[in-house]
Amino acid sequence: MIVTIDGPAGTGKSTVAKQLAQVLGFEYLDTGAMYRMIAVLAVEEDLDLEDLSAISELAERAEIDFKEGAAILNGVDVSTKLRDPEVAVAASVVAQNTKVREKLVQRQRELAAERNIVCEGRDQGTVVFPQAEAKFYLTAASEVRAKRRLNELLEQGKEVLYEQLLEEQNERDQRDENRPVAPLKPAKDAVMIDSTELTIEEVVRDLEEIIQQRLVK
Ligand code: DC
Repeated sequence: MIVTIDGPAGTGKSTVAKQLAQVLGFEYLDTGAMYRMIAVLAVEEDLDLEDLSAISELAERAEIDFKEGAAILNGVDVSTKLRDPEVAVAASVVAQNTKVREKLVQRQRELAAERNIVCEGRDQGTVVFPQAEAKFYLTAASEVRAKRRLNELLEQGKEVLYEQLLEEQNERDQRDENRPVAPLKPAKDAVMIDSTELTIEEVVRDLEEIIQQRLVK
């Protein structure tokens, strides 16, 4: 069974997807991490993010895997690098590259094949797994989302400003929603969940209930 969870950053999507996978006994696929891995390579190699052919070529030679929750890029664990604000910004630029998307969509389907899995991202219910048995779209007010990100980064000891995070988040949302390929939007058959006033536990419980009902049918 494939469960998809899409939505913008800061909705608690990753935590919800991880916890939901755990309570269901499913695996978990963080597809944002895959775009971030391409961004890590682009930043390391100091490439022009808008250079379509250089970035496509990068995606061709990137070997992406996950082992026990760690993000493995060309054999190296890059999990901590993925959270850098610079990498987050670069990821949303490389995610507009059609060749990068084709390559990663193919890898996402390989990783999910024949599995019970919760796949989290922006286009999982619309493009990658239109046949998924349960689809969710998480939203939350943008100020609340930026505050959640701020707390996350502060906990990791990173120095960031709320205003800057909010601005970057808005820019990223704009790019994700308006790009021509696989824009961020809910699938027609997705269940919409607004997490502004809900705790992670409440969201996970709601999602689990909906899935259990579908499993019974
Ligand atoms: O979920 P995240 O913040 O880790 O995602 C990083 C970037 O990758 C974000 O700008 C959106 C993009 N992304 C995407 O275009 N498609 C996905 N399935 C997942 C992420």
